[in-house]
Amino acid sequence: MNALLIQGATVVNADCEQRADVLCVDGRIAAIGERAASEAPAGCERLDGSGRLLMPGGIDPHTHMQLPFMGTVTADDFFSGTAAGLAGGTTSIIDFVIPDPQQPLMDAYRQWRGWAEKSAADHGFHVAVTWWSEGVAEDMGRLVRDEGVNSFKHFMAYKNAIMCDDETLVNSFRRALELGAMPTVHAENGELVYLLQAEVAKMGITGPEGHPLSRPPMVEGEAANRAIAIADVLGVPIYIVHVSCIEAAEAIARARARGQRVYGEVLAGHLVIDDSVYRHPDFATAAAHVMSPPFRPKIHQDFLWRGLQAGSLHTTATDHCTFCAPQKAAGREDFRKIPNGCGGIEERMSVIWDAGVGQGRLTPSEFVAITSANCAKLFNLYPRKGCVAVGADADLVLWDPSASKTISARTHRSKVDFNIFEGRTVTGLASHTISQGRVVYADGDLRAQAGVGRYIKRPAFGPNFQAVQRRAEVNAPTAVAR
Ligand code: URP
Ligand code: ZN
Ligand code: ZN
Repeated sequence: MNALLIQGATVVNADCEQRADVLCVDGRIAAIGERAASEAPAGCERLDGSGRLLMPGGIDPHTHMQLPFMGTVTADDFFSGTAAGLAGGTTSIIDFVIPDPQQPLMDAYRQWRGWAEKSAADHGFHVAVTWWSEGVAEDMGRLVRDEGVNSFKHFMAYKNAIMCDDETLVNSFRRALELGAMPTVHAENGELVYLLQAEVAKMGITGPEGHPLSRPPMVEGEAANRAIAIADVLGVPIYIVHVSCIEAAEAIARARARGQRVYGEVLAGHLVIDDSVYRHPDFATAAAHVMSPPFRPKIHQDFLWRGLQAGSLHTTATDHCTFCAPQKAAGREDFRKIPNGCGGIEERMSVIWDAGVGQGRLTPSEFVAITSANCAKLFNLYPRKGCVAVGADADLVLWDPSASKTISARTHRSKVDFNIFEGRTVTGLASHTISQGRVVYADGDLRAQAGVGRYIKRPAFGPNFQAVQRRAEVNAPTAVAR
């Protein structure tokens, strides 16, 4: 038996805070409160949580470990990436299976499952729909029914690679609804990006500063509005990943005010980093920030924070997708060839705590909501994950709200050679991370083990998910009797 008793901490859930001891037995939470100490078995490991907060381990709903992308493969694999997450208090990830166009979804899924076997933390997959056929529709069914995939990703950007056209979006959204699965989108108009990239390059702008110029906020706003409109017509909920700008956040807020089920994810990076990084004189530094959507002028950050406060944006992620300087150098002569992606899985929780709770924008419970609970609810992992409750997985973070560190690539755990939060001093750190009831990180000592992370099936949503379709049917014009 593996047992751990955490004593004296304040337990923070998305809906309440209480001083309570927590007993974990064999990977699950067995007791909370007075019973915890009395039920602790002999020889139980004990952890003093006094002066600290005990929260659900973070869930990062958007990572790309070992991703083959833009002619190269990300620096972090499923071990190094999840280990870095554990060091920062993140105990689960949802990564992406991204089939090549024409590749059967099931083949790609098996490939990714194999790569993820070395994972140090629990994980699941969104599966991208990059093309359409009857076979894709059948594989979506198999993935939902047999493999515990309940979300499908659609890239509205990356023309001539993995971009979905509207026909694929429509077919896939409809199929997702039928299956009780959540469609998700990377919202950027890929045709506009393609055109603007060519125009920017023709003007002689070949450096990383060309990247944001070719992806202005309205490119994201258009795609968000289009995806939301398609979802509304079909009566399917929709989740928009890495919302970076006012135009997309407003589209979500407007749709929600109409009663549509639209959910938005924000990246830690987009909350605190602005577009000045692309004007850095050093190519390597500017290129290290090339990701899509790009970092935006500061004014957008405040709007994203307000969306999280107001509940019109729901989750926070990293889009952890790491490329080292020699990989980024592929685009030295042409910004279009810089592999898109940045890291952040180790830093997400601290950056959001520091700029969110530390700056008075969020309460600790709101922090839990946007770093784990909402994600667990949206992707049907709740209450197994995303809450500190009896019966839940013992995935926890013991949080020291007064501890500080200065973030640096010299000390981070990721294999990437750059940190987009370099030099930022954050207050609020994981002192201990507990995964499956075991202490895997303790005051700087990372004890991540390759292969112990489990693949977590996420069941399809039930009949209530389809209920939104009835609203669409009610709104449909009825035939007039003559
Ligand atoms: O630039 C990014 N975000 N790279 C990863 C792929 C994606 O678009 O999510
Ligand atoms: Zn994306
Ligand atoms: Zn991504």
